[in-house]
Amino acid sequence: MHTRRAILPDLIEGFSQADTLLPRPLAEICENVRDFHVVEEDGNIIGCGALHLYGVHLAEIRSICVSPELQHRGAGTLLIDALLAEADHHHVSCVCLFTLIPSFFSRFDFRIVTREAIPDKLYKDCLLCPKLHACDEIAMVRGELPKTAILGKVPVEVPLVKLGA
Ligand SMILES: CC(C)(COP(=O)(O)OP(=O)(O)OC[C@H]1O[C@@H](n2cnc3c(N)ncnc32)[C@H](O)[C@@H]1OP(=O)(O)O)[C@@H](O)C(=O)NCCC(=O)NCCS
Repeated sequence: MHTRRAILPDLIEGFSQADTLLPRPLAEICENVRDFHVVEEDGNIIGCGALHLYGVHLAEIRSICVSPELQHRGAGTLLIDALLAEADHHHVSCVCLFTLIPSFFSRFDFRIVTREAIPDKLYKDCLLCPKLHACDEIAMVRGELPKTAILGKVPVEVPLVKLGA
């Protein structure tokens, strides 16, 4: 069992075969495939998960899923480790997620926070979500809470990168 970066066929075939994954439009899969890592065993994809980058101040773990019949054998842990390593690789100081099972994530040093503590997530997804005022998911973070945000009405404090200087 090992993790690796996803390629398009992993996700296209995964979404067409697995009942546990929400079907996504092809364009959305293509746009996001580079966020995904998969767990592979004997040539089969048995799980996937994504790391969405907002900036060095914040990234989000999303879409973590292991085939139901192959859970409790360490695949979920491998995925989280791979996504946290990816966050480290990009020098990200805070990783967040929304979940219904906080006990799984507290094993990786995630702690519960209010969603207002991660404004980029609030602006990207929550404000568009029909469950905005009836959210049953728990927000968690690992690392330093972000001191800045790049979306919404929050002032931009992230310095612009100069290209070709
Ligand atoms: C959460 C999930 C990814 C874990 O994958 P996994 O391969 O079983 O994880 P691991 O084998 O590395 O770790 C298993 C441990 O995680 C914890 N765990 C797993 N599922 C859990 C759940 N639903 N609730 C609470 N803890 C859970 C348990 O401590 C478990 O230990 P155990 O095997 O001794 O019972 C998998 O259960 C899954 O795909 N669930 C459905 C989708 C989902 O809920 N995703 C999370 C969205 S934020």
